[in-house]
Amino acid sequence: MTSNSMTMNNKEFKQRRDALLAHMSEGVAIIPTAPEAIRNRDSHYPYRFDSYFYYLTGFTEPEALLVLIAGQENKSILFCRDKDIEREIWDGFRFGPEAAKTAFAFDHTYSMSELDTMVPQLLANQPTLFFSLGADSGWDTCITQWLNAVKMQARAGVSVPNTIVDVRQHIDMMRLIKSPFEIDLMRQSANIAAQAHNRAMQKVTAGKMEYEIEAEFLHEFYRKGAQAPAYTSIVAGGANACTLHYNANNCVLNDGELLLIDAGCELHGYASDITRTFPVSGKFTGPQKTLYELVLTAQLAAIDAAKPGNHWNAPHEAALDVLVQGFIDEKLCHGSKDSVIETASYRQFYMHRTGHWLGLDVHDAGEYKNKTGEWAILASGNTLTVEPGCYVRPADNVPEHFWNIGIRIEDDVLITQDGCEVLTQAAIKSVADIEAHMQQP
Ligand code: GLY
Ligand code: MN
Ligand code: MN
Repeated sequence: MTSNSMTMNNKEFKQRRDALLAHMSEGVAIIPTAPEAIRNRDSHYPYRFDSYFYYLTGFTEPEALLVLIAGQENKSILFCRDKDIEREIWDGFRFGPEAAKTAFAFDHTYSMSELDTMVPQLLANQPTLFFSLGADSGWDTCITQWLNAVKMQARAGVSVPNTIVDVRQHIDMMRLIKSPFEIDLMRQSANIAAQAHNRAMQKVTAGKMEYEIEAEFLHEFYRKGAQAPAYTSIVAGGANACTLHYNANNCVLNDGELLLIDAGCELHGYASDITRTFPVSGKFTGPQKTLYELVLTAQLAAIDAAKPGNHWNAPHEAALDVLVQGFIDEKLCHGSKDSVIETASYRQFYMHRTGHWLGLDVHDAGEYKNKTGEWAILASGNTLTVEPGCYVRPADNVPEHFWNIGIRIEDDVLITQDGCEVLTQAAIKSVADIEAHMQQP
């Protein structure tokens, strides 16, 4: 599905614009897409649109900007690149304003070259500007110039918006609840990533390099139609797994060590985010199995706590409860469960939280606490990760048989009416299933 075929769903994108317009009630929203980024000299990074802009338009081309006008008559307006056959010979298809209007169901479309004349006209006499100040200094400057252009007309009785509201606040709330269309894409994204993990597990042998396994993921992501990895894959053998954001992926895989892989793909904007940890040899050692089963029990407890009505932190608390007891049992932590939690001494081995919202961004938009400082309440349609772990660096106070073991188990879940659906359930994770799967030819 390219930008072209995304237009088949233009109704849903229009509904989102209409919902935002209804919330605005009066005023103008300005939402630009992301700039292209130069990698070096005249080579660009692969283009990735801005998630807020895309959420409201489905439009994936660079150099585009959405204007929403709320009032007696709501209007949605797209500014985009002109049709340009010469450029299209070099860079590929672009809609141009005329085709984009019909394909994406906008009320009006204009060329980006008309921004500086059109936007001040659209801002004139409007009470409120909905814009995300501070997100991009280039667009902040444009906004200042456009507001100044409106101010210049003060003596003609034209007024400038006197309030600027962060347009992202309301979109964040909308993005927290996924529609059936989004859930379908997230299921597909999760499934591609799950199959890639299962496949990679069978490709691992001692002596291979971490990057060879990373390549297996890229192979599987692109082969299955994902447009990109959702983030840089972590392929961390042995002690590398104890570096949380390790992504050098350039070491050899050794017998007797675990391999932690955190890799997910992006499908039509939607991220999957899976971590699996398994033995390079295909068989867990005793200490590896002990800690793996501890993390897995913690993860299953956290998944159980991922249900509507529970607060955001409930899965983290459930995971922590299991992990801390396990750390005490295995002499990694000392004292009572309450004291280990209160003093946070468990953080020597578990120093991150148990999940995050997931969607168009891998760490997706949306608040974790409400305005009064209470945790958000989980609701049907939320999508999040559940990803407890355990990372044991060598230290005098740590039993040596656990040294350099790093484990994380991460799944993506959808909160449903009465619990949750594990979107990534196809990714193998029990000790028995991993060992059996790795023995298959
Ligand atoms: N892969 C990013 C994360 O797990 O948060
Ligand atoms: Mn994650
Ligand atoms: Mn991850």
